[in-house]
Amino acid sequence: MSKLLTREEFEALRLQSAEAMSADVELRRKVFELIVSADRYYWIHQTSWFGEPVLQLAQDMFALQEIVFKTRPKFIIELGVAWGGSLLFYSTLMEGLGGGHIVGVDTYIPEHVKQKLNSFGKISDRIALIKGSSTDETTFGLVKSLVGDTREVLVILDSFHTHDHVLKELRLYSQLIGVGHYLVCCDTHVEHIPEIVENRPRPWGLGNNPKTARDAFLKENGRFEVDQVLENKLLMTLHPGGYLRCCKE
Ligand SMILES: C[S@@+](CC[C@H](N)C(=O)[O-])C[C@H]1O[C@@H](n2cnc3c(N)ncnc32)[C@H](O)[C@@H]1O
Repeated sequence: MSKLLTREEFEALRLQSAEAMSADVELRRKVFELIVSADRYYWIHQTSWFGEPVLQLAQDMFALQEIVFKTRPKFIIELGVAWGGSLLFYSTLMEGLGGGHIVGVDTYIPEHVKQKLNSFGKISDRIALIKGSSTDETTFGLVKSLVGDTREVLVILDSFHTHDHVLKELRLYSQLIGVGHYLVCCDTHVEHIPEIVENRPRPWGLGNNPKTARDAFLKENGRFEVDQVLENKLLMTLHPGGYLRCCKE
């Protein structure tokens, strides 16, 4: 290479090539096929942070990192904790950026997960856990009281993926988010690749999943839009159309 592009030239090239990549229908089909094939081997269970499992594709965690860096939320709320690796990931970012708190909500948080989450000093100190169903008024009330008046909040919906449950989460937790901040609706891919559910039977599936809930939510709520620029460059994501940015008060 004779010389580096200017940063502006490089950014323009990145944007342009991501847009072209996203328009490549055949490439996207191959990616879906890869996700379905790899899911037979529980591929998404292979990611970890600080040794704790994160049930996401690394590509989606990078997208979340970009959102956190860009928006610097005061609170990150994750509905659906599982092993807690994702909470440690957000907390590490917050530690590096110098501020903010993490709230994890789950119906089931075993003692060994709590112990792990408590064992990382300053990274642990900013994490609060709430045991309860994300859509219960009491749980939502507790989250609201922790968040207080700020609207600089990132919410990640990754709990129970039926249409009704996710729609209720979208309606409740979107109220916490101010302009420029994000609401991430996970696992919208179920609508595009229902085979993934055939591998592992679940109460959700084609026509009843986060994507259908997101569609209904966007129809009734004009405050959020899909961040297509972010999605274009991901290529591989479990949350297509799920990165929602608040665009109106
Ligand atoms: C896909 S896992 C979460 C994965 C985690 N966000 C990560 O990235 O590693 C889904 C979690 O949602 C929890 N869950 C199921 N129903 C729930 C509900 N009604 N409210 C809150 N959490 C729920 C399950 O116990 C499970 O731990």
